[in-house]
Amino acid sequence: MERLDKLIANSGTLSRKEVQKLIKNGAVKVNGIITKDRGFCVDPDNVSVTVNGEEFLLRKYVYIMLNKPEGVVSAARDDKEKTVIDLVPQEYKKKNLFPAGRLDRNTTGFVLITDDGDFAHNILSPKNHVEKTYEARLAESITEPALQKISEGITLGDGTECLPAKLKVLEDGENPLVEVKICEGKYHQIKRMFAAAGNAVIELKRVKIGDLPLDENLRAGECKILSQDEVKLIRDIK
Ligand code: URA
Repeated sequence: MERLDKLIANSGTLSRKEVQKLIKNGAVKVNGIITKDRGFCVDPDNVSVTVNGEEFLLRKYVYIMLNKPEGVVSAARDDKEKTVIDLVPQEYKKKNLFPAGRLDRNTTGFVLITDDGDFAHNILSPKNHVEKTYEARLAESITEPALQKISEGITLGDGTECLPAKLKVLEDGENPLVEVKICEGKYHQIKRMFAAAGNAVIELKRVKIGDLPLDENLRAGECKILSQDEVKLIRDIK
């Protein structure tokens, strides 16, 4: 059983405040009966909810896009350091939220935070081919052989073999900016791929997961709840 106002707000189309106002104004019916108690608890799998007379699909889980700043760790909790979960505003907070995949402390950009373990597992498993897109700023100009090695699947310094990555040089020059798409998430993978090719990553940002780009309106440290359509852009599960 979960709170009605939270479940409706999890859909990402209405803010918690808007939901509370709708409930107060009698616009929300639970199994055909107007419910003005915003703390009312329901079983999301076994209830029919309408908002202003329209059937409303309740979501059991929440999916949050965070624009991660530098200096924050991608963990559910940490005794000493600030975590990505600490950046989730109180109104979006739920039990069991965790980051679906880790970015290094100094990597910025799109972190998906959810309480849906199966979805997280599915988008992280290389078998499901959900691409993660990064922009990597490099310490040195990039050579054709280096691009080729990484594109074909490079072997890291410790012998770990990477799957082929898709690369596109976005800015050439002394400190090129390269778009990198990978479907796996080995430890420090992008930094180690470029290191194995004789270069170094000096800045790294994740800009997309699947087909869902990081929202440019989110400033570093800000979050938003994703709508069902946005979640489908990450991975469409029929
Ligand atoms: N690859 C890295 O090296 N670091 C990250 O944070 C993500 C991918």
